[in-house]
Parts: sequence; structure tokens; C-alpha cells
Amino acid sequence: MADLHETSERLIAPVPRITIQAFCETQDAAGMIEAACLDRRMQKAHVKVQMGGGPAAVEAYRHAPTPNVIIIETQGAKSRPLECLDSLAEVCDEGTKVIVIGHVNDVQLYRQFLQRGVSEYLMAPVDPITLIQSISDLFTAPGAKPVGRTIAVVGAKGGVGSSTIAHNLAWTIARGHGTATVIADLDIAFGTAGLNFNQDPPQGIAEAVFAPERLDGNLLDRLLSKCSDNLSLLSAPAILDRTTDLSEPAFDNLVDLLRAAVPCIILDVPHQWSAWTRRLLIAADEIVIVAAPELASLRNAKNLLTLLQQNRPNDARPRIVLNGVGVPKRPEIGAADFAKALDAPLTASIPFDPALFGTAANNGQMIAEIQPGAKASEVYADLAAKLTGRPEVKRGRANLLEPFLAKIARRKAS
Ligand SMILES: Nc1ncnc2c1ncn2[C@@H]1O[C@H](COP(=O)(O)OP(=O)(O)O)[C@@H](O)[C@H]1O
Ligand SMILES: [Mg+2]
Repeated sequence: MADLHETSERLIAPVPRITIQAFCETQDAAGMIEAACLDRRMQKAHVKVQMGGGPAAVEAYRHAPTPNVIIIETQGAKSRPLECLDSLAEVCDEGTKVIVIGHVNDVQLYRQFLQRGVSEYLMAPVDPITLIQSISDLFTAPGAKPVGRTIAVVGAKGGVGSSTIAHNLAWTIARGHGTATVIADLDIAFGTAGLNFNQDPPQGIAEAVFAPERLDGNLLDRLLSKCSDNLSLLSAPAILDRTTDLSEPAFDNLVDLLRAAVPCIILDVPHQWSAWTRRLLIAADEIVIVAAPELASLRNAKNLLTLLQQNRPNDARPRIVLNGVGVPKRPEIGAADFAKALDAPLTASIPFDPALFGTAANNGQMIAEIQPGAKASEVYADLAAKLTGRPEVKRGRANLLEPFLAKIARRKAS
């Protein structure tokens, strides 16, 4: 699992709304491409996989327009790849890109492919994530700003403190890492980000999702309100004039614009099960599930984990944070038992601390502003480091060595 988290640090931009047609010679390649299509980063692409390799592609485009990407598998010289590419070149629309999946490691052949304008040559067996990365790279301009990473925070049930964690996490990443961050409050009717950051901006997320046709980078700029250095808020109006039974892709455009604008986006996802919350969770780069140490949270966290792992086969599993641990007199499921029942490790446990959290909420402040040394503040810093893949920026030798030591420890463990 650690490895998956590492590869996700090399962020793959979601593939845009394009058409892809693949012509395979082996069932393995066809199956691999079908598997790649299930990945969240391929959600918007239209993919068609067929057999027949290069000759089938030549035949297919004799009278039909070419898609954005053609993938051709070739097992070797007997499939006459170069002849096929030459014939294709005559009919290819401008802008169509070709990826070749080959079975021979031959520099000469590779060069000849490149000379014919092939964008990428991948050696079989190709794993789905490599193919997705290659396709994604074709549509990312060289030198373009890397896309922002989205971190979705959701509660296994209502009121477990997921918004509190989302807000503190965003604040910690913005401050501790100096990373420009947006905290987006997706709980349009009841969200508390405005209260917790002591902000009452006139506009926010409602303008972005209720009038999607108007949304562009400029409007988004105006909808964001500045909370602190590096931290902007996309706040919820928290009024009931509209219901939030939104369409499944309601947030797609907003998330795309945010990704293009800032390196880190924290999505405070309300605890509800709708087409759009499900889609947002599945599409996020990282997911944090917040649970209370009790049975309903455990059951729901387990169900969420199962569903998300099924729908994110090429991603690390969501992180689980236990919050509000140690409520006096309340029977609890211990952290170890909780993890065992989930069959997944817990990323962190945050103690129940009503005085601290109550004060923070009343003042509209973050936990670390009130008590930087609190256990919760440490957990947020640690979580921020894990989620961004970087330790907090601090001076001092020990901290400079930390990432290397951690890497060595990881290597030893694996
Ligand atoms: N560890 C904690 N100890 C005590 N109170 C907490 C803790 N975490 C969150 N709270 C409080 O719990 C309440 C619900 O938190 P919130 O983040 O709004 O939950 P959710 O978004 O999951 O519905 C808030 O009043 C918050 O201040
Ligand atoms: Mg909430």
C-alpha cells in the first residue's frame, strides 16, 4: 500500500474529454486497456477497444474520422507496423495522436516509430497506470503548471468532526508547507467553514455550482475569499433557499478549475450519499474518512472503504482517522480493534477535547492557533505531511533528515 501512496505523489492529471480507440493483437492488451478505462482519471474519456491491430485501424479509418488518440498494439514485424502507420498517416486527422504498444525492445524500430510521428512507444506488458500516465501527458502542455491535488475529507457518519479536520488540515498545509491551498465547503446548506474561519464572504460555492455555465477562472477568483497566507475559502452560503440534489457531474467543472489554479484543494464533503458525493470521492487524489470509535462509524467506514477500493483499483486506500477518542464514560471500540475490524490501519487518532474544540469553534480559530502543542495539532501536521508527501517546512537538521530516514525505514520494511 505504501508504494501506491508513493506513485500517487507523481500526480497524474485527469484525462480530458477525448475519444480513444484501441486496436489490439492480444487479449492481454485489450483487457489492460479495459481495466485502465475504469480508473478515475479516465472518467471523461470515451474509449473503444477492438482487436485486429494496425491493419484493423487502417481499415477503420479509411472512411471514418480519426479519434484524439489511436492505440495500436503490434507483436512484431509480421504485423507490419510501419506499413500500417504509413497508411494511417494518410488518413489521420490533424491532432490525432498515436500510441504504440509493442512486444520487441528494438531501438531501431522505436526510432522509426518516432519518425512517423508516434507519440509514445510502450513495451508490453503495460500496466494500466503507465498507459493512463502516457495518455494524460499527451494532453498536458510541456512546461504547464502541474495540476492541483484534491484531498476529500468525509465523515463515516454525521457530526464525527470531518469538517473540523478538513479545515484544520487545509490551514496546516497552507501554513506549515507554504502551499497555496483552497478549502472548499461542499455542504452548501449547512457548511461551517465560514464560521470556523470567521469569514462571511458574500459569494462562494453556490455561485459556482448553481450557474456552472458562468463559471470560469475569473469568476472563481472572485468567489474565493482569503483566510490567511496561502489559504483561500470557497464557502457555503448555509441557507436553505435551494436544495442540493445536484446532478452527478455538478462539481466537475469547479474541480477542474481549482486543479488548474492551486496546488492543493481540500474538499469538505458532507456526510450524504448522492451521485455527486460518490463521484467526488471516487475522483479525489486522496481520501480521508473520519470515524468515531463506535459501531455505526465502523460499519459505514468499512462500507466506504470497500466501495472506494473497488472503484479505485489503481490508488492507495483511503486514510482512516479516528476522532473524538476518550469521551468520558462512553464505551468505545479501541483503536486496535477498530483497525482489525476494518482490516486497514488507522492513520491517526484524535482525542476528545471539548474545551479546546469548543473554544476554537466559538472563536472561529484553528486548533493550532489556540494550542499549537495539542495532540490534535500534531495529528494535523502529521496528516498534512502524509497527504502532501512532504514534511512540514522547518529549520533544523533533524527535520531535514526526516524524509530520508523515513524513506530508508520504508525500504527496510518492504
Ligand atoms: N476531537 C474533538 N473533540 C471534541 N469536539 C470535537 C472534536 N472534533 C470535532 N469536534 C466538534 O464536533 C462538532 C462536529 O464537528 P464537525 O467537524 O462539524 O463534524 P462533521 O463535519 O463530521 O459533521 C463540532 O462542534 C466540533 O467542534
Ligand atoms: Mg461537515
